[in-house]
Amino acid sequence: MTIPITKPYFDGNEYNYIKETLNSGWVAQGKMTEKFEKEVAEHEGIKYAVAVSSCTTALHLALLVSGIGSGMDVLIPAFTFVATANAVCYTGAAPILVDIDIDTFNISIQEIEKTIGEKYVWDNQKNCLINKISNNVLKAILPVHQFGLCADMKKLNQIAKKYRLTIIEDAACALGAKIGEKHQGQFGNISCVSFHPRKCITTGEGGMVFTDEERIYKALKALRSHGATVSEVKRHNSKYGFLLPDYTELGYNYRLSDIQSALGCAQIEKLDYILSMRREAADNYRRIMKKYDWLIMPYEPKEYCHTYQSFVCRLNIKNISLEEQSGSRNQILNFLENEGVQTRQGTHAIHLLGYYKQKYRFSAEDFPNAYKADLLSMSLPLYVGITEEEQMNIARLLEKAFDGLY
Ligand SMILES: Cc1ncc(COP(=O)(O)O)c(C=O)c1O
Repeated sequence: MTIPITKPYFDGNEYNYIKETLNSGWVAQGKMTEKFEKEVAEHEGIKYAVAVSSCTTALHLALLVSGIGSGMDVLIPAFTFVATANAVCYTGAAPILVDIDIDTFNISIQEIEKTIGEKYVWDNQKNCLINKISNNVLKAILPVHQFGLCADMKKLNQIAKKYRLTIIEDAACALGAKIGEKHQGQFGNISCVSFHPRKCITTGEGGMVFTDEERIYKALKALRSHGATVSEVKRHNSKYGFLLPDYTELGYNYRLSDIQSALGCAQIEKLDYILSMRREAADNYRRIMKKYDWLIMPYEPKEYCHTYQSFVCRLNIKNISLEEQSGSRNQILNFLENEGVQTRQGTHAIHLLGYYKQKYRFSAEDFPNAYKADLLSMSLPLYVGITEEEQMNIARLLEKAFDGLY
């Protein structure tokens, strides 16, 4: 492949910090992870950060500390990576899909109100919404800041207040994303990010949970390490370190190692630079492909700061069916692949995935915008170091593929 979909940006301190960690003799979760947490929390302007093994495990813990479990429903967007829905299922709660806004790819506020109106009744005694069929309590909304664009947090927070719901933000793609001057994680809720290599900064695999509440911070730290009352590094360095601590609840091993955190410490130093490069490359694409009236560029509302974790366009060919357009999308992306350019569909619609389709007997039309996004989205290569010439070449290939079809 001459142009990959993404490339991690390693340029120096990654090697130094990893070497430092290896030389220290402590490679499990320890001081380097504490440093990484502190630096990321500072960057995002949030009080506490808890590093974990992935965003999936971050979401699982965030849901658990919010009291989510069986007998409860959680609203999630229908167009998101499978991990969003899976994390809800791990707790025993049910993910309730809500269609997206096709322009932003984020959960639709109107569709949330519609879903609540259709599926739930208000219970005056319990002071909560009850699912008319399952009797589950509607407990939370899990909005996704899809591809690095924040969901409409102002309206989401208003809905949460109105119906007494908790919000947990899936900010897997959105480290550094903002609305106005507010970073993801500053909207008053727990949020979770990913450090998978497809994200703007990476630790190989990894994730982080953000909160301003000390109680939640402490609960997260215990849960990520088997439910231990004392962290491993603290016990190791204290008197009577030979004794294991107490384990007062059912926890998990969701720790991030110091080797991964060393990588993270080097990466966070460059996050602002990485984001500015990504935004510049996104602007280039927009400018170069302005005349393609068959391709809709990613939408960035005024006041929002998109991270462009992915640059996701949508095919829009008039007067042919969605399915025919989707066939064309795949032919276009296949043409690019044969020319050495790696692309991807944006992400997938949960209701089209085998596990969820069977479990909830969904049909494609249940969530029309998620279906459309699944069929027509295309993510183009974007990384620090992609040249304008490469972007022009990608645009030319897209045009050539399209012209070959129509
Ligand atoms: C929206 C969303 N949520 C959750 C995840 C899971 O992240 P991780 O791979 O770190 O578990 C991803 C990963 O791509 C994602 O895009």
